[in-house]
Amino acid sequence: MSTGTPTRVKTLRLASPEETHSLGVRLGKLLQPGDFVGLIGDLGAGKTHLVRGVAEGAEVPRSEVASPTFAIVYPYSGRIPLYHADLYRLTNYDDLYSTGLLDMVETGDGASLVEWLDRIPEAAPREFLRVTLRHAGADARELTAEAFGARPTALLEAWAPGA
Ligand SMILES: Nc1ncnc2c1ncn2[C@@H]1O[C@H](COP(=O)(O)OP(=O)(O)OP(=O)(O)O)[C@@H](O)[C@H]1O
Ligand SMILES: [Mg+2]
Repeated sequence: MSTGTPTRVKTLRLASPEETHSLGVRLGKLLQPGDFVGLIGDLGAGKTHLVRGVAEGAEVPRSEVASPTFAIVYPYSGRIPLYHADLYRLTNYDDLYSTGLLDMVETGDGASLVEWLDRIPEAAPREFLRVTLRHAGADARELTAEAFGARPTALLEAWAPGA
């Protein structure tokens, strides 16, 4: 659950889709089982674009990410399991049970990337990284990353060391 003040905040400007993708790749190389990344931002903000980079960085076969499906949770097998979820169509915590996401997060064998976390903030564990993307021009985005807890802070420092 999201609580109070973040332990670390960084803001980055992403001038192009390619920059967002590269940043995702870097995060994908760093993720460990148990990590949870919530993604927030309007339609077209770039959440899925970032996650595709993460999947590449985590060595998920391209064919897995490309496969079209209407599930809420997409499990990918990379160097670790990745759980890519999109809560856009859910409205409350009870909806989450049937998706299996809560079990996956609790088991902690993989890393979770959850789009539209603001729909159900309670989906997040106590410690997590919250990433917010905002439009900043046609091809530019502003990314704000807020770490809640020690491991998310270490992850954020490694991901965006200079920011
Ligand atoms: N700097 C940028 N970073 C990411 N995407 C960008 C950027 N500039 C332009 N885009 C474009 O914005 C779109 C982002 O779409 P994407 O599906 O990632 O958004 P989303 O946040 O997942 O939206 P939704 O809530 O509908 O799932 C893509 O078409 C991408 O090419
Ligand atoms: Mg999306």
